[in-house]
Amino acid sequence: MSTQLLTVSGISKSFPGVKALQDVQFELNRGEVLALVGENGAGKSSLMKILSGIYSKDSGTILFEGQEVDIDSPKTAQKLGISIIHQEMNLMPHLTVAQNIFIGREPRVGIFVRERLLSRQASELLTRLGIDLDPDTLVEGLTVAKQQMVEIAKALSFDAKVLIMDEPTSALTVAETETLFTLIEALKATGTGIIYISHRMDELRRITDRVTVLRDGHYIGTLEKADFSIPKVIEMMVGRPIEEGARPTTRVREADDIVLKVEGLNTRSLLKDVSFELRRGEILGFSGLMGAGRTEVARAIIGADPRTSGTVEINGKAVSIKKPSDAVALGLGYLSEDRKQFGLLLEQDVNTNILLASLKDYTDGLGFVHTNKGKQTSRRYVDSLRIKTPSISSTTKNLSGGNQQKVVIAKWLARDCDILIFDEPTRGIDVGAKEEIYRLLNDLAAEGKSIIMISSELPEVLKLAHRIIVMANGRITGVLDNEEASQAKIMDFATRMGHEKEAVQL
Ligand SMILES: Nc1ncnc2c1ncn2[C@@H]1O[C@H](COP(=O)(O)OP(=O)(O)OP(=O)(O)O)[C@@H](O)[C@H]1O
Ligand SMILES: [Mg+2]
Repeated sequence: MSTQLLTVSGISKSFPGVKALQDVQFELNRGEVLALVGENGAGKSSLMKILSGIYSKDSGTILFEGQEVDIDSPKTAQKLGISIIHQEMNLMPHLTVAQNIFIGREPRVGIFVRERLLSRQASELLTRLGIDLDPDTLVEGLTVAKQQMVEIAKALSFDAKVLIMDEPTSALTVAETETLFTLIEALKATGTGIIYISHRMDELRRITDRVTVLRDGHYIGTLEKADFSIPKVIEMMVGRPIEEGARPTTRVREADDIVLKVEGLNTRSLLKDVSFELRRGEILGFSGLMGAGRTEVARAIIGADPRTSGTVEINGKAVSIKKPSDAVALGLGYLSEDRKQFGLLLEQDVNTNILLASLKDYTDGLGFVHTNKGKQTSRRYVDSLRIKTPSISSTTKNLSGGNQQKVVIAKWLARDCDILIFDEPTRGIDVGAKEEIYRLLNDLAAEGKSIIMISSELPEVLKLAHRIIVMANGRITGVLDNEEASQAKIMDFATRMGHEKEAVQL
């Protein structure tokens, strides 16, 4: 049996106004992990969608186990044994975990689904994969990280020869990522070939055997593990040197005004007595493991979730925020971790989305919208964040995942809020663009805006935040100044559970 699973060559694919792929090639062997890397919009997801039968290619050939194949539908891909974990989650929110995993393949008697058997099958699968999830919970109640684990379980429920993972870890934190890596090692040992897409450079060295680089839809090259280094990969990806500039450039002093004061915040589900202050010009990081309660703090403050007690003051005045629109009216912006649900109108164009939160700035007293002024703003953000789109009037859903995330960020930057809460702002964003975003956040802080930044990437928090609040199990377990903070110290606080039960881990 030959070791070659897939040989892909000469693949091209165009969309209106975009050459997504031009003459791209790569090979995948049995039992190896091939990383596929490139900037946002480089063509990674498009290539994978061709392999999984979602997009049709304009030209090129695909050999599967030495035979040329025509992957004309997702069904064909599945029959060949090509399974994909999508970058954008495709789960049905109103169905359970088990129903999502086996959708379309449920065990039945006649037309009736055998729910108990379905649940048991899912439970067996999840146990085998080491994923701690109840098969009978509804997907809509799950965090982004847990939803991602459902996607992973679903992809692994097929006996895949080729498993494609499109940014599987972007919403996962350290512990869940480790679970996934253990799974990957086990799959490799059984001969499965894995294509792994990620913007987390540190993961490449950990789990991949070879790295293939795309840039602007072109194949740039492939590096064997023996001769790859992260700087070399980045250079191939971006084709220009990256300026690593950002460090906290400003200092926050005791004397600076307190713009946001949260006291004794409690929620029924998780938060216990959360109190903190945010000063003018401060970037305040929130760290912690999955389920620690960081997103819940943001949601409780902006009125997306009910709180059982607790007060919020803005500029020294008690405010009553009952729903997210109250928060926006008070100058408090929230970039959600789940952009698909809350952040974007995918069917609308890029311009509309960028201006969505600040429309009133472009409307005069008579209700006329100054479209040109608005468009100028949109174009400015498209340039400064390097949003890859044919134009600002292109439909947002056609942008690559990372570029959609940049649009959400632009939306809140355009809104000119005094207080911004960013939840995982650089999720799915490539290395070069991350630096741009860090620079923009630093500039905002220097202008006197205040930012809460929730992030699972420790290096990012250390790089940007003046102070870091660490949470565990719904409580604040530590507050660190940037100078005294380190990854080890943060992890120490993040794993302090006291007498509480163990952290929610997958
Ligand atoms: N259905 C579509 N219609 C129009 N353009 C598309 C469509 N799908 C992808 N594109 C375009 O093709 C290019 C490549 O996108 P793709 O999603 O493959 O990038 P990517 O490498 O996966 O990026 P990211 O890291 O942001 O996920 C982008 O310019 C994107 O806007
Ligand atoms: Mg993608």
